[in-house]
Amino acid sequence: MATLQISSSLFRSFFLTLCLFAIPSLSSDSDPLQDFCVGDLKASPSINGFPCKSSVSASDFFFSGLGGPLNTSNANGVSVAPANVLTFPGLNTLGLSMNNVEFAPGGVNPPHSHPRATEAGIVIEGSVFVGFLTTNNTLFSKVIQAGEMFVVPRGLVHFQWNVGKVKARLITSFNSQLPGSAVLPSTLFGSNPTIPNAVLTKTFRTDDVTVNKLKSKFAV
Ligand code: GLV
Ligand code: MN
Repeated sequence: MATLQISSSLFRSFFLTLCLFAIPSLSSDSDPLQDFCVGDLKASPSINGFPCKSSVSASDFFFSGLGGPLNTSNANGVSVAPANVLTFPGLNTLGLSMNNVEFAPGGVNPPHSHPRATEAGIVIEGSVFVGFLTTNNTLFSKVIQAGEMFVVPRGLVHFQWNVGKVKARLITSFNSQLPGSAVLPSTLFGSNPTIPNAVLTKTFRTDDVTVNKLKSKFAV
């Protein structure tokens, strides 16, 4: 009887340990099952990602679209060049991607979140105020300089602001071939169709005039 109890509690601990190890393996894109699978963007995406191109060459594994300088003359003073599976299909099934983010002085990469990835970034030029928010609304932030890194845990809202007098530049990386980006202002005020004003006025404790003004700024 005692042996039976010991072995069932051993089994329980073994099972719990297995579950703990299984959790991190679910936190990013799934592992590849072959050396590579360059995405065929003309085919419809299957369950997870794109079908593989039937014939590949060296050029499928190189990408020159991350380089700048980018044009930051826009309302936010920021521009992002992505290297994800849609721009660089060689990343298909490999579970990673990168961005080049450039800021005019004072430029802001607005609050956004990546539902499918943790983000790590490095400042290449300038001085950047980097912040993310936890799910209980604590802000973790710091001004960082060229050569310094940051991390944003998966799915958390974050932003960056160039606090220097000259341009700034970040390279960011993600543990997903397509991290997705929900940019809060345009998600809330620029959706198609739009969110009813009744929802937004109540949510933001404001009136139709303010909501319509914001909608006009983010209309697509
Ligand atoms: C920065 O936050 C980025 O998503 O590249
Ligand atoms: Mn981001």
